[in-house]
Amino acid sequence: MGEVLLFQDVTDFRHIEAHLVESSKMMAVGQLAAGVAHEFNNLIAGIFGYAQLLKINRDPKMIDRAVDVILSSSQRARHLTGSLLTFSRRRSGRREPVDLRSLIRDCVLLLGQQLEQDHIEIEESIPAFPELIADPGQLQQVFLNLLINAQQAQPDGGRITIKGTIETERIVVRIGDKGPGIDPEQVDKVFDPFYTTKGALGGDKVPGTGLGLTTAYNVLRNHGGSISVAQTSPEGTEFEIILPIRAVRADKESAASDADPGSSDERSHRGALVVNTDEVSRAQIAKVLQDLGHKADVPTSPSQAKALLQKTSYKLAFLDELPTQDRGSLYVEMRRGSERMPIIFITPKNRQEDFPGLDDPWTFLLHKPFRSRDLATLISRVMARSLKAAS
Ligand SMILES: Nc1ncnc2c1ncn2[C@@H]1O[C@H](COP(=O)(O)OP(=O)(O)O)[C@@H](O)[C@H]1O
Ligand SMILES: [Mg+2]
Repeated sequence: MGEVLLFQDVTDFRHIEAHLVESSKMMAVGQLAAGVAHEFNNLIAGIFGYAQLLKINRDPKMIDRAVDVILSSSQRARHLTGSLLTFSRRRSGRREPVDLRSLIRDCVLLLGQQLEQDHIEIEESIPAFPELIADPGQLQQVFLNLLINAQQAQPDGGRITIKGTIETERIVVRIGDKGPGIDPEQVDKVFDPFYTTKGALGGDKVPGTGLGLTTAYNVLRNHGGSISVAQTSPEGTEFEIILPIRAVRADKESAASDADPGSSDERSHRGALVVNTDEVSRAQIAKVLQDLGHKADVPTSPSQAKALLQKTSYKLAFLDELPTQDRGSLYVEMRRGSERMPIIFITPKNRQEDFPGLDDPWTFLLHKPFRSRDLATLISRVMARSLKAAS
């Protein structure tokens, strides 16, 4: 009797997606490099020039002016490297508190030099957004891709508008340009992988891979959001990005410890948590965990499980058959403060059920009845992935 473990398919799919994200990112990095290098040169030239002046001119007014320029240029340079580092961070799927407004402003900053060269004005109106729990590197990539598209659509200058609004439970950002628009017959295709009117594929000199919008689409979907073409005409194009304001943190402290992988991983991990109403699989899971050398807490009711979750941090959790509502609220409780803890849902084979967090890269599905050997394989893989993500 062989059980099919659904998690394998999902993992493979995510693998491909991760590669797509990565190649589109490399493309954007290439497009950014020239502009950022140029801007760095300017900043360093300023710092260097004023430092040299200070050597020969000790006039107090001069000193004040020089120190001001040196400080502001270094600050800007530090900000620029900071933004580049967030962007190039490889670890994807990582969630942390994100201030979307400064993330978008950082993207504009990274592209600033190129936009100026192309005579593109930026018109921005973004309110202070509530904090999101998101992957900052991936979101930065989304906005960079959109801004680069808007820039490429206006080679002879123009304007990019960035409008942010807060609606009930969601953040909406619209990015518009004054470019030539998208061919109405092609609008449906722009999110398709490799659809491009640029580069060798599209017969254009501007480089393009056709992966920018595909990546944006995937990243936003993984964040529970969406992207669409809000409007396009020969007068310009506007993209609309929607992100849900879920998990807004009231508690800054737990948010901070989450943002720092070191500190959250050093918290006392007691092992696995098995929340289960089915005694047979509960005993089976506990035995397998024990054989693999993991400690396990096995509460006998959802409320006991919640109490344990409030004082303990686990490295792995199982959620077996439970009333939908309990499962939903336990899932939320498990995710609070542990964005990357693997959660394995267990469900009888052949039953169609809706699970919370199906878009969450750290949830897995296991059908029962299962063989202990298959469970052991799943646990080992999930833990290996978890360790890798933390390293
Ligand atoms: N702002 C825009 N204005 C006009 N066309 C656009 C715009 N953004 C995207 N497109 C169209 O969608 C295509 C796909 O975009 P994208 O996935 O970013 O790939 P790439 O930019 O590498 O071509 C582009 O080639 C272009 O034809
Ligand atoms: Mg693009």
